[in-house]
Amino acid sequence: MRQPLVAGNWKMNGSRASIRELLDGVKAGMGEVKTAEVAVCSPHIFLCDVQQQLDGSAVAWGGQDISVHESGAYTGETAGSMLAEFGCKYVIIGHSERRTYHGETDQVVAEKFVAARKAGLVPILCIGETLEERESGITEEVVGRQIDAVIAHCGVEMLGEGVIAYEPVWAIGTGKTASPEQAQEVHAFIRGRIAAASATVAEGLRILYGGSMNPGNAAQLLAQSDIDGGLIGGASLKAADFLAIATAANA
Ligand code: PGA
Repeated sequence: MRQPLVAGNWKMNGSRASIRELLDGVKAGMGEVKTAEVAVCSPHIFLCDVQQQLDGSAVAWGGQDISVHESGAYTGETAGSMLAEFGCKYVIIGHSERRTYHGETDQVVAEKFVAARKAGLVPILCIGETLEERESGITEEVVGRQIDAVIAHCGVEMLGEGVIAYEPVWAIGTGKTASPEQAQEVHAFIRGRIAAASATVAEGLRILYGGSMNPGNAAQLLAQSDIDGGLIGGASLKAADFLAIATAANA
């Protein structure tokens, strides 16, 4: 059995005060979360605060990006060892906003995946097609290529040490969600693609859905056999909504 993971992606939102309030709310409601593991991925500047507030709680935390390098002259970047020092368990890798606005290629994403593992972090590898790609009928080609790049670089066993988040780009922050059937179809394809390299890894790997997941649509999405949780953007900024999604995973 794969334990569902419900992870918040705050993106570049919040202040020290708003995050304190948000995490107080999340911690207070964790008693209702029976099945899912819960995590939040914070802007790196707040990680010290997040660590202080979440240490000893049931909520894990992580970063939103990582440098491919271990240290050195890379102004503005965050090394995996630094994220680990602040207690991060997870790090988001290859989010579509990084791929689009920062030119991250499949190769760079694969290198970041390895950098995360070297630092002992669990990478949350984001993949997904744009609207244009979906409408051209190449969704499977795109997500297949994104997965293959990581397998080619680090091998399927290392891929199995991470988590995958399928996030159709057209559903991120748009209020448009993939239907449970649409999402399940791609999730099953992803698992099948990985199974071609290792059936064992494919069976154990958690594949999250991301893209306008909210308290209203979470239960149906999470009920799909290949959807093992969610990567939650907008709805993770409200404690009640985030908790409602996490409790929707209760078995
Ligand atoms: P959203 O973002 O839930 O606001 O659509 C998801 C994400 O980008 O991880």
